[in-house]
Amino acid sequence: MQKSIDIAVLVGSLRKASLNRMMAHALIALASAPLTLEIVEIGHLPLYNEDSEDQPPAAWTQFRERIRRADAVLFVTPEYNRSVPAALKNALDVGSRPYGKSAWAGKPGALISVSPGAIGGFGANHHLRQSLVFLNVPAMPQPEAYIGHANKLFGSNGALINEDTRKFLSGFMRAFGVWIEANARSTGLGS
Ligand code: FNR
Repeated sequence: MQKSIDIAVLVGSLRKASLNRMMAHALIALASAPLTLEIVEIGHLPLYNEDSEDQPPAAWTQFRERIRRADAVLFVTPEYNRSVPAALKNALDVGSRPYGKSAWAGKPGALISVSPGAIGGFGANHHLRQSLVFLNVPAMPQPEAYIGHANKLFGSNGALINEDTRKFLSGFMRAFGVWIEANARSTGLGS
């Protein structure tokens, strides 16, 4: 049997009725074997402060260990002021330290930005890509996913109701599966 591929999903919004969280759940529902997706929470992580590395908060340690265990990472994020929300940037920073022990290094990644606006969080998507280059996360270049007018994509129960978006996301996840396999050498998946 094929080994399952564990994808840690980071959602950039902390609010309960988040469109990005709805999107993450839609992706979890869409993904097929061997891909398994799990949301890894980031809202409880104390703000990164290097002084705390002597005795790191338990939440940091658990988060780092969870990311290390993952075969790949998927970011689903809103755009805040043309960049990523602070909570997501904090999670990137927490996972990147202590120096030389980044939890992100070599994990294949993918990004989806989701916004009620017309340009689908393009700015956040590309700011995030900039950090991922430095963190040595090979981020899937295509298909790009800037999901605009997202307030029209979900029903009152939070389920995806737009068929074109469902097809696009299915293709996105298939491509991500291929991307993970192609970039898996440094994660051990390819060995
Ligand atoms: C926003 N929003 C927003 N939208 C956008 O397309 N570009 C932007 O730069 C911003 N900036 C921004 C800043 C802040 C502080 C907030 C709170 C919001 C609107 C944002 O896209 C909208 O609130 C989404 O619904 C947020 O995503 P969730 O929470 O629904 O996942």
